[in-house]
Amino acid sequence: MATWHKAVLAAVLGVAVTAGAGLAVAQADVIKARQDGMKAQGAAMAAIKKVVDENGPAANAVAPAETIAATAAKIPGLFPQGSDKGAETWAKPEIWANWADFEKQAAASKAAAEKLAASAKAGNMDAVKADFAALGGTCGSCHRPYRTPKS
Ligand code: HEC
Repeated sequence: MATWHKAVLAAVLGVAVTAGAGLAVAQADVIKARQDGMKAQGAAMAAIKKVVDENGPAANAVAPAETIAATAAKIPGLFPQGSDKGAETWAKPEIWANWADFEKQAAASKAAAEKLAASAKAGNMDAVKADFAALGGTCGSCHRPYRTPKS
C-alpha cells in the first residue's frame, strides 16, 4: 500500500495501519488516549470547581467547560469494540453490551458542559454552580456502570 494510503487510512480509522502486532499497539494507544482525555476532563472539572468555590469570575469557567464538551464528543470514538483489553484499563465490557446507552451518557455529558459554558459566558454564577453539579452528575452516571473503580 502506498504510504499516503496508509496515512489516510490511519487518519480515518484513528489507528496505526500496520500488520500483525500493530493492532495490539493501536489498542494500547487508544486506551492511553482516552485515559489522557479523561484525566484532562478531571483537570477541567477542578478548574471549574475553583471558580465555583471562589464565587467567580464566571469567565474562567468558559474554557474548561468547552474542553469538557469537545472531549465528551470524542468519547465513543475512543472506545472501539474489545478495547477492554490490550493495556491496563478500567473500562468494563458492559460498555459494548450497552453501546447505545454509553453513547447517550457521553452526549449527556457534552450537553451539560455546553450548558455550563453558556452560563459562564453569560456571567451567571448561580447557573454556573447548578450546571457544574449537573455536569459532575453526568461523569458519575457513566462511571458507575462502565468503569471499574480504581483500588
Ligand atoms: C460516557 C461515559 C463517560 C463519561 C460521560 C465520563 N467518563 Fe470518565 N471514564 C469513563 C471510562 C469508561 C473510564 C475508564 C477508561 C479506561 O481506563 O480505559 C473513565 C476514566 C476516567 C478517569 C480516570 C483516568 C485515568 O486513567 O486515570 C477520570 C479522571 C475521569 N474518567 C474523569 C471524568 C470526568 C471528570 C467526567 C465528566 C466531566 C467523565 N470522566 C465523564 C467513562 C466516562
